Amino acid sequence: MRHFLALTWRFLRDSMPDRRRQRYGDVDYDWDYRVETTSATVGWGTRFRGLLHAPYQPVDPELFRAIMSSLEFDFTEFTFLDIGSGKGRALLLASEHPFKRIIGVELLPELNQIASVNIQKFSSPLQRCHHIETVRGDATQFIFPPEAMVIFLFHPLPEAELRELMLRLSTSLASLPRPIYLIYAYPAFESVIAGFSSFQKIAGTLQYSVFRHI
Ligand SMILES: C[S@@+](CC[C@H](N)C(=O)[O-])C[C@H]1O[C@@H](n2cnc3c(N)ncnc32)[C@H](O)[C@@H]1O
Repeated sequence: MRHFLALTWRFLRDSMPDRRRQRYGDVDYDWDYRVETTSATVGWGTRFRGLLHAPYQPVDPELFRAIMSSLEFDFTEFTFLDIGSGKGRALLLASEHPFKRIIGVELLPELNQIASVNIQKFSSPLQRCHHIETVRGDATQFIFPPEAMVIFLFHPLPEAELRELMLRLSTSLASLPRPIYLIYAYPAFESVIAGFSSFQKIAGTLQYSVFRHI
């Protein structure tokens, strides 16, 4: 009951006009690329569900580009997978690199529907991968594709669910070993990943960590 009241309070506070105005702080990318990825326009039902799982927030383009430019391997061999892809901003940013393909998994239907529209209308001279798809579903039940992957996590899951995802990924890798890089932006539960000895941290700052499967 206490948890529910705390969530309701957080939801009501976030619904105030000043908070909504603050959320428009992430809108520059949308102006530049004529898409709709801001957190400011998320409907109240989806926002409330977001508080129960992980609230929607699009990744900061500057941070995403900084992370990608720190990686030094041939992207053409890899699929990019965004766990909790929201309205698809990370998918669009990933398409600036020559990935084999790009996949997003998103729990909430409203966000996933908007991501599909964004993917269709996205146009950028920087785009180097045109094979982008999004799947609506629970990432902890997702069946990982049988290929080399760069997996992107921007705070998509609470701690217990992240552990569940990592267990599933480890099982998939045990039955079919393949190269995996894992990017964790704002790594609040990094200790969960560090607990899997087959993942080694190879780079990072306070804002992100990169792990490689060994
Ligand atoms: C912080 S947002 C990140 C959005 C996107 N990755 C980006 O960087 O622009 C986290 C997203 O994870 C989604 N999410 C939460 N739990 C999930 C789950 N179990 N399966 C799939 N997506 C989930 C939320 O709905 C939200 O859209």
